[in-house]
Amino acid sequence: MNTITAPDVGTSGNKPRKTGMARLWELALRKKLLVITSCTLSVFSVAISFSPFIAIYSLIRELVTHSADLSGLDPVFMTKLGWLACGGAATAILLNFVALMCSHIAAFTTIYQLKLDFTRHVAALPLGFHSENSTGKLRKIVDDNIEKLEGFIAHQLPDLVGSIAMPVCTLAVLFLFDWRLGLASFIPIILSYLLQMTAFGAKNAQTFLNKYQDSLEEMNNAAVEYVRGIPVIKAFNQTIYSFRRFHQTIKTYGTFCLNYTMEFETYMEVFLLIINHVYLFLIPVIIVLSGGVSDYGTFALASCFYLVFSLSLATPFIKLLYVAQNGRMILNGIERMDTVLNTPPLLETAAPQTVSEYSVCFDRVSFTYHDQKEIAAVQDVSFSARQGAITALVGPSGSGKSTLAHLIPRFYEVSAGAVRIGGVDIRDMSSEYLLSIVSFVFQDVFLFKQTVADNILIGDRHAGRAAAVEAAQAAQCHEFIMRLPDGYDTVIGTKNVHLSGGERQRLVIARAILKNAPIIVLDEATAFADPENERNIQKAFETLMKNKTVLIIAHRLSTVRGADKIVVLDKGRLVEEGTHNALVKAGGRYSRMWDHYSAGQNWSISRKEAPDSPVKPA
Ligand SMILES: Nc1ncnc2c1ncn2[C@@H]1O[C@H](COP(=O)(O)OP(=O)(O)OP(=O)(O)O)[C@@H](O)[C@H]1O
Ligand SMILES: [Mg+2]
Repeated sequence: MNTITAPDVGTSGNKPRKTGMARLWELALRKKLLVITSCTLSVFSVAISFSPFIAIYSLIRELVTHSADLSGLDPVFMTKLGWLACGGAATAILLNFVALMCSHIAAFTTIYQLKLDFTRHVAALPLGFHSENSTGKLRKIVDDNIEKLEGFIAHQLPDLVGSIAMPVCTLAVLFLFDWRLGLASFIPIILSYLLQMTAFGAKNAQTFLNKYQDSLEEMNNAAVEYVRGIPVIKAFNQTIYSFRRFHQTIKTYGTFCLNYTMEFETYMEVFLLIINHVYLFLIPVIIVLSGGVSDYGTFALASCFYLVFSLSLATPFIKLLYVAQNGRMILNGIERMDTVLNTPPLLETAAPQTVSEYSVCFDRVSFTYHDQKEIAAVQDVSFSARQGAITALVGPSGSGKSTLAHLIPRFYEVSAGAVRIGGVDIRDMSSEYLLSIVSFVFQDVFLFKQTVADNILIGDRHAGRAAAVEAAQAAQCHEFIMRLPDGYDTVIGTKNVHLSGGERQRLVIARAILKNAPIIVLDEATAFADPENERNIQKAFETLMKNKTVLIIAHRLSTVRGADKIVVLDKGRLVEEGTHNALVKAGGRYSRMWDHYSAGQNWSISRKEAPDSPVKPA
């Protein structure tokens, strides 16, 4: 096997991914120039927003100084102060507007790229990842966690920078006129900072947040499961309370929200009390100092300035509180996103090989699902499926047939052994190439909410409409497609478009026929088809299967009776292999299965056969 290289999983080169605040900054500064411009403008905006206060204070001081003789006022100076007040306010607003514009552009571009990177990464992960991680969890990461970064970059980052600049400017302004009053106003600010640091620096704050996010994720998953399970609930006439998990997750989430609120309630109340009432600290100082001042007029004026100015201090500090709170939430969300980004995608070989012969060989293959560590789904299985022949996999439910089929396109990595195509280990092929040489129809049919034609063309994007119609005819679905409201242009999943299980399966068969790959894997492909359709589909497959490697899984043994080789599986192990006749003659496991199957074919339900039926007539 060739050296295998791990593709980029979102780390910067080979360096491990940053964590915590460093990671948040790394993400926030993806659009560095825009973010720095926004923050700089935000700082200027905060600094300039002080100018109206200073200008108005100076205006009042001029008026008080010349109150005895107003003709002594300098009109040019007074006009300049007026312009400074108006111009300062207007400039601060304008700068803030431009700062927010830059931060919004940076935010939306960043989250767009992040969502794209995340989705690409998730798409490159092995199928095993998707069966272990719920759609609800992934949806929450894309819709909520990544989305929260928008608020951080667009609003909280400029607010944060502004809130840091604010105390510096406040300090300068507060100590500009009277340092004692300045100090009296500054003490509550320091107290608020200390309070915030104590509340959010506490160890249990992080634990709380983790548990909060976990319970939110649980509730999301349970909600998705609940909505998907509604048909079952209705069928069994269960009420919402019977769906205990969903109910329980809502209750758990509610409890956490309550505990979280209770934990930080006192801190919040004291913080708001202090920051909204700075004047309560100022007034006693003004009273004490007023007894000893010489220039009472100037002191009274300065006191008025501080009292008015103190009212504007609350807003930036409250913003800072939200930055701190949201910062923790965002960090937690980023950690969850990084856990997914750190999951390595399928390893790609450094020297990909191609093949010209397409027989499939399982060489001592074992496979264990990640969440079922103690039981191997497939154990030490060796057999080969020849090109130009039909190989059938049979065995009881849960014997590992589908698992084996999923190992061929590398949806899961084998735990031991190797799967080879044309003698080459599938890990030595590029995943794109491997997928291009395997056509499969799996048990779980999935159709996209696209037109019927588009759903078939997934088999070969470059094939035209005519080829899609031809494939549909071969898969016996042309007739029912033509009955749909818009024929091949009908969008699946829209109003009045209902396809039966068999019809959905035949559409997927058309997809596989169109792909026309050299290896065909059919997992219960005709299970839903009625006998007539099954015969017709098989006829279509006959032409398609010529000179190809075909692996068929079927419970209806009549479907696989004519196969060139039948491989019998039981509890993940290969127990027998051979042709139908040879296996029946051998009198082993397959022979017993065939007897049961044949007996089942002649079995019918009748009242006579169930005399002790527990079902009472209505
Ligand atoms: N995604 C999964 N995660 C964990 N275990 C799984 C998963 N899929 C299947 N298994 C387990 O692996 C074993 C083999 O399952 P598999 O689906 O391959 O059986 P099968 O032979 O195809 O059965 P059937 O005839 O019912 O389709 C079973 O015990 C099953 O519970
Ligand atoms: Mg199966």
